[in-house]
Amino acid sequence: MSVKLWTEAYRPNTFDEYVWRDSSMRQKCQEWVQARAMPHLLLEGVAGTGKTSLAYLMLNQIGIGSGDILHINASRERKIEDIQSKIIGFVGSWALNDTGIKYVVLDEADKMSPLAQGLLRGEMETYHRECRFILTCNYASKIIEPVHSRCQTFSFRTLDRDDFTARVGEILVSEQVDFEVEDLLTLVEQTYPDLRKAINLAQQSSYISYDCLGDTSYEEMGNTTWDELSKGPITTGSGKQIRARLHKPKADESGIKDYMLEMTNLFRAGRTNEARKLIIAQAQAEEYIDIYRYLYRNLDIWGDSEDIQDNVLLAIRKGLVNHSVAADQELNLAATFVECKLIA
Ligand SMILES: Nc1ncnc2c1ncn2[C@@H]1O[C@H](COP(=O)(O)OP(=O)(O)OP(=O)(O)O)[C@@H](O)[C@H]1O
Ligand SMILES: [Mg+2]
Repeated sequence: MSVKLWTEAYRPNTFDEYVWRDSSMRQKCQEWVQARAMPHLLLEGVAGTGKTSLAYLMLNQIGIGSGDILHINASRERKIEDIQSKIIGFVGSWALNDTGIKYVVLDEADKMSPLAQGLLRGEMETYHRECRFILTCNYASKIIEPVHSRCQTFSFRTLDRDDFTARVGEILVSEQVDFEVEDLLTLVEQTYPDLRKAINLAQQSSYISYDCLGDTSYEEMGNTTWDELSKGPITTGSGKQIRARLHKPKADESGIKDYMLEMTNLFRAGRTNEARKLIIAQAQAEEYIDIYRYLYRNLDIWGDSEDIQDNVLLAIRKGLVNHSVAADQELNLAATFVECKLIA
């Protein structure tokens, strides 16, 4: 088991790695890959079901390089003029690939105002020959009708459940994590159809603990530290292999927000700044208290040194106390993360 984000490491690169909604969708996508061109697409539905992944999988399969793809996240671009000038700048040059078509991947298109969507519609028409748009969003009802009618739409409400389960199982196997089928099924029960959440929760729940050691004695373990143990399977002096195991996710975490799981995995991978930025970007102010509690319940994120855990706990308490009086609660939460990082 390595320290990386599984959701990143296991982004699907082939049709077989992708968990399809159904065979008709796979068939349609296969036709477009054969034709080496996609129409304007609207991929809408539940978070973590593979909308953005499908856009990139298809582009990859058709052979479109990054120079011919413009990625825009509509929720991060405040001004429509910025989006427009990016698009116009992008379509103004020839495509580098032999199909002659470039692609704009516009994530979170439902965050654009109706006015901005109206301008987008104009561009979809003007540049239709040389540029196609792939829009992704969670709420199709927020997309204006003229944009809808110019796109082929795929709705993501469910995924093939067996394939969903198999994908998480495959990832556990390739990370050399032991698991009971029953625990895998519980995890699927708690996360389906959000595959991103399933993979994040699987990573968070996979570790080496005392019960993975079985009858291995401390002598046999030699000088192995807990830190080394968490990085991957280890072989003891007598040649026995000790591997991480999938633990049953904690019951009170079944309703946990996706970004909190991702935050934990980023912390574990030592990517503290990214974890902080993720939380500040995703969490609503009223969820901050839940984040302090979550950090408190998961002190093991910071390793198993009791001293470090104690000091992190004090930093979290300080953050929580200051939360109610701070003029800027976001800054207070961000500062708490920084303090935890400095301690660890
Ligand atoms: N259908 C899928 N097949 C394979 N992997 C998937 C699938 N859906 C999600 N994943 C995994 O979850 C990660 C996130 O998926 P992705 O970003 O495509 O979700 P999304 O539907 O675009 O979510 P959002 O609505 O939040 O933008 C991927 O990198 C991949 O690891
Ligand atoms: Mg997406």
